[in-house]
Amino acid sequence: MAIATADFEFVCKLVDQRTGIVLDKGKEYLVESRLAPLAAREGLASLDLLVARLRKPGADPLARKVCDAMTTNETSFFRDLHPFETLRRTVLPDLIERRKATRQLSFWCAAASTGQESYSVLMTLLEHFPQLADWKVSFVATDICGEVLAKARAGRFTQLEVNRGLPAALLVKYFRKEGADWELISDVRKRVDFRELNLTTAWPAMPAADVVFMRNVLIYFSIETKKQILAKARRVMKDDGYLFLGGAETTLNLDEAYERVQLEKGSIYRKAARPALAAAA
Ligand SMILES: C[S@@+](CC[C@H](N)C(=O)[O-])C[C@H]1O[C@@H](n2cnc3c(N)ncnc32)[C@H](O)[C@@H]1O
Repeated sequence: MAIATADFEFVCKLVDQRTGIVLDKGKEYLVESRLAPLAAREGLASLDLLVARLRKPGADPLARKVCDAMTTNETSFFRDLHPFETLRRTVLPDLIERRKATRQLSFWCAAASTGQESYSVLMTLLEHFPQLADWKVSFVATDICGEVLAKARAGRFTQLEVNRGLPAALLVKYFRKEGADWELISDVRKRVDFRELNLTTAWPAMPAADVVFMRNVLIYFSIETKKQILAKARRVMKDDGYLFLGGAETTLNLDEAYERVQLEKGSIYRKAARPALAAAA
């Protein structure tokens, strides 16, 4: 199904306004391949008809479906591995020391997609930090796309999905076979509070976060949108908290109030004006 130029431009504008995702000229193939299945599901024989319906008043539910279809939800367990090693070796030991008086930690996975990243963080805590068992640990995971959040909440993954990055020992320990799929045990699943949140609009009140995972989502946005989101993330982060970005993302030249900590593999980010350990609560 080919898309007419005017229809492509209309869809780009709609998706940009609602999600911040920038679709440049030349991405027609992407729009066609994502929207053709949606048109079929809606009983519409062509993309012309889909966009004609989108242009009519009262098309909000369809516009949401279009935006959902245009999000890229690619993810996997322990994606890129080294951020989870950094979490285990550097970030959590530091935060556990800083928070030993309050015994509270708070995590936020922004752009959580189908949940593999949040559950990888959670399994890292459970496997390596048993001393947190009686701490108050809160875990919020958000995404713009309701469909991926429903899958994340269900914690049910195909064989192919668990084959991508999940060590066999963790599969056996934390998952139960359900038909052809694997389901995360409910004790673990229910610890993550999955919520819908659009990073480009106003954010609802959230617990101040010690650790923010915001990986592989800024790449889709304009420079201005990246700047706005990074500034908002700073306001949600504790003063001595940590930010993880994707391998192709950075705060450099976007928000100088962060400092980058270069590690052997990859980097983490924290606020440039960060309290010293002795002064931390
Ligand atoms: C490529 S996935 C990244 C998933 C995970 N963070 C990872 O690195 O594996 C990008 C996610 O960003 C979400 N997303 C895109 N635009 C968004 C927005 N404006 N607000 C919140 N989430 C958004 C998509 O729905 C998608 O699930």
